[in-house]
Amino acid sequence: MKLSEPGGKAFDPLTAYCLLPTAYINPRMANVRKPVIAGNWKMYKTLGEAVEFVKDLRGRFAKVDQCEIVVAPPFTALRAVAEALRGSNIAVAAQDCHWDKEGAHTGDISCDMLYDAGCTHVIIGHSERRHDHGETDEQVNRKLKSALAEELVPIVCVGETLEEREAGQTQTVLERQFHGGFRTLTPQEFSHIIVAYEPVWAIGTGRTATPEMAAESHRVLRELASGQFGGEAAIQLRILYGGSVKPDNIAGLMAQEEIDGALVGGASLQADSFSAIVNYH
Ligand code: 13P
Repeated sequence: MKLSEPGGKAFDPLTAYCLLPTAYINPRMANVRKPVIAGNWKMYKTLGEAVEFVKDLRGRFAKVDQCEIVVAPPFTALRAVAEALRGSNIAVAAQDCHWDKEGAHTGDISCDMLYDAGCTHVIIGHSERRHDHGETDEQVNRKLKSALAEELVPIVCVGETLEEREAGQTQTVLERQFHGGFRTLTPQEFSHIIVAYEPVWAIGTGRTATPEMAAESHRVLRELASGQFGGEAAIQLRILYGGSVKPDNIAGLMAQEEIDGALVGGASLQADSFSAIVNYH
């Protein structure tokens, strides 16, 4: 049973945020993908800071409907943030998950627990997890299957390092991560996934990929989606760009048809910069 909480009161993440995981269809323009702006807080903000921050965001974003908004606080703040955002238009993501439902995995958190805490989304395969914890594409695959089974929307990160880009291996790396991460998924399962292209060399460096470079990689990813899951799945897939997204470069990135939103690190930690990104147009 998912909907329990220590205080006895039933907690339903769907009332906290009701987000359709599939792409938004504009009735006047078929196949328009609704943008997603997600803030990955990484290892920042205490519980008190997190709650105060999202109360501010909730007020600022009350009228926003041009994009879906997601925040990914650290594990310790998930439940409190989900409570503070209950009934709002801001969804809550975890930054990682384990693939098992429960078990002897010290320090890990299952998707069942994330759902229970009020999450609707989970970031999987972030390059910092791949680098710091040696996460593999095979583990990414297991995690995302577990997230899908729990009806969490996986935001799956892929992207090349500087060495790989300079060696001309960007496409090969994206192919490897895509096929490794998404193997054995059905098109139906794939339709719930959001992909984030985050070139490792652009993360936290202030060195953003140009909109054209990002769009080029997004095209590669969409072609991979088309090859594996069919044209319709590829058209519906939302691909976010991440890596030094700031208020002054978001409009240029979003002007690219291929870019369906952003996964924002540092600039998502202050209300002014995050709201400038959310209100990019
Ligand atoms: P920055 O926006 O701080 O470069 O971080 C990007 C990122 O890793 C988001 O997941």
